[in-house]
Amino acid sequence: MQKSLVKSKINNLNKPEIKQAWYSTYGDSYEEGLRFLLKSIDSNSFISENLLEDIKNKKPIQYILGEWDFYTGTYKITPAVLIPRPETEVLVDYIKNNIVDIKSILDLGTGSGCIAIELAKIFKDAHVLGVDISTKALEIAHKNNWQSNYKVKFMESNWFESVKNKFDLIVANPPYVPEKESKNSSLVHEPKNALFSEQNGLADPLKIISGAKKHLNPNGHFFIEHGEGQSEIIQEAMHKEKFSSVTVIKDLVERERFVYGNA
Ligand SMILES: C[S@@+](CC[C@H](N)C(=O)[O-])C[C@H]1O[C@@H](n2cnc3c(N)ncnc32)[C@H](O)[C@@H]1O
Repeated sequence: MQKSLVKSKINNLNKPEIKQAWYSTYGDSYEEGLRFLLKSIDSNSFISENLLEDIKNKKPIQYILGEWDFYTGTYKITPAVLIPRPETEVLVDYIKNNIVDIKSILDLGTGSGCIAIELAKIFKDAHVLGVDISTKALEIAHKNNWQSNYKVKFMESNWFESVKNKFDLIVANPPYVPEKESKNSSLVHEPKNALFSEQNGLADPLKIISGAKKHLNPNGHFFIEHGEGQSEIIQEAMHKEKFSSVTVIKDLVERERFVYGNA
């Protein structure tokens, strides 16, 4: 259906109907979501024609709207990619404020491309590569790439498998949620391979850590996001790989969520 037709259909849906669907799904526990949705409809954002059904199915508002803000950009998203999270913005901001003189960047598990594209905007002279195992995610990343003036290159790869070069900076936000949490209702709409990892959430992070040094230039920088309670194991693995200056970075609410290491 053409976008304009979808819009006029939504405008004809009366707002009480939307409110009713919302309250019967969420009660009064998520009113800020409703306010945000109604505001977006007013500002003519693109909304799916299945809006009432989507609300009933608790589809996250980010997927209903089809886009979400991340750091300085607005990213097109579909259920093929993880919804960009505010804590990941902390990581981008930390890199912006602490890292200088880099000419090449690798973003592992790029998803919507949000980290790679934001870093390309910050480090204007750097070559940036984003890799993902999901072709559908890479299609979305390509669609978002106009924001970097198409500077980011995207490639399909199972972590480092197809990556040939070395980089000055590697950043990874891998799946790290333990598989036993896969029934958690707030996560059922997002792609499983973006969220869950074996070995209590640590299989993918540990695989990346063990391959990272080989793909870093001397003194290259490595950042990895991880789940709550995983910091010690991640630090231990990085010490084992002989990273130096291993540093814990906290998120907006002071939880240990990222680790840095120098090659
Ligand atoms: C937590 S999401 C991160 C998405 C995005 N970088 C962000 O921060 O919003 C993890 C991403 O890793 C990708 N992924 C999962 N397993 C992978 C693998 N073996 N090799 C490459 N990418 C993988 C998923 O497809 C997903 O896009």
